[in-house]
Amino acid sequence: MQFQILPSLLAADFGNLAADIARAEASGAEALHLDIMDAHFVPNLSFGPDVVALARKVAPGFYRHVHLMMTRPDLYLEPFAKAGAQTIQIHVEADCDVHAELARIRAMGLRPAIVLNPETAADAVFPYLRECDEVLVMTVHPGYGGQSFIAECLPKVTAIRHRAAALGCPDFDIMVDGGVNGETGPQAAAAGANQFVAGSYLFRQTDMGAVVRALRSACIAASESAIMNTEMMNNAL
Ligand code: DX5
Ligand code: ZN
Repeated sequence: MQFQILPSLLAADFGNLAADIARAEASGAEALHLDIMDAHFVPNLSFGPDVVALARKVAPGFYRHVHLMMTRPDLYLEPFAKAGAQTIQIHVEADCDVHAELARIRAMGLRPAIVLNPETAADAVFPYLRECDEVLVMTVHPGYGGQSFIAECLPKVTAIRHRAAALGCPDFDIMVDGGVNGETGPQAAAAGANQFVAGSYLFRQTDMGAVVRALRSACIAASESAIMNTEMMNNAL
């Protein structure tokens, strides 16, 4: 399982976007997370394909995850693919044929991912696990950066991890997004997550690289000790 840290560009300085994209890449984070909000699925507007294209221009080798918080993501797959999205994440709550859109993302040569909101049960994404490469479990209500982590979402991470393992994919990518920091990231890792989006926590740092490395190490350690504890409990039974 690969542990990845993804700075969310929503927390960048919009007056210095190119510099902040370069700073995120230089931090050693594995990928950039780009939040697209349509003021309908969520009560906020963010940015569109031009900012994804800017990220590709500034940092061509820095992998781009595009999180579509949109009621109709199906209408926007092409523009985001053309702008340089590499993973496209669509919500299970979106108003479209989710099976068909995940297939369309894959047919474009991109990685399809499914996202679920805090109030959506884990089993809502089970029918899609074979059709996507990643599940994103929201740990805040989507729409804004800088909110507090909702720890009640973590049992869903564990449920999805178990389901993926039962389907023969123990290393399936499970991401958390919202309120992730040095304390909550390791909690999510212990629950089974291996990809961690962090916006305000990372962009407010003067040395983003040091914090990315520390967060990644803390998440790996928390995951390893959770796995060891489970094995010890199983052996004791
Ligand atoms: C929330 C977005 C998140 C957000 C995370 O709607 O999907 O990606 O940027 O920001 P922080 O890490 O500040 O909670
Ligand atoms: Zn996001």
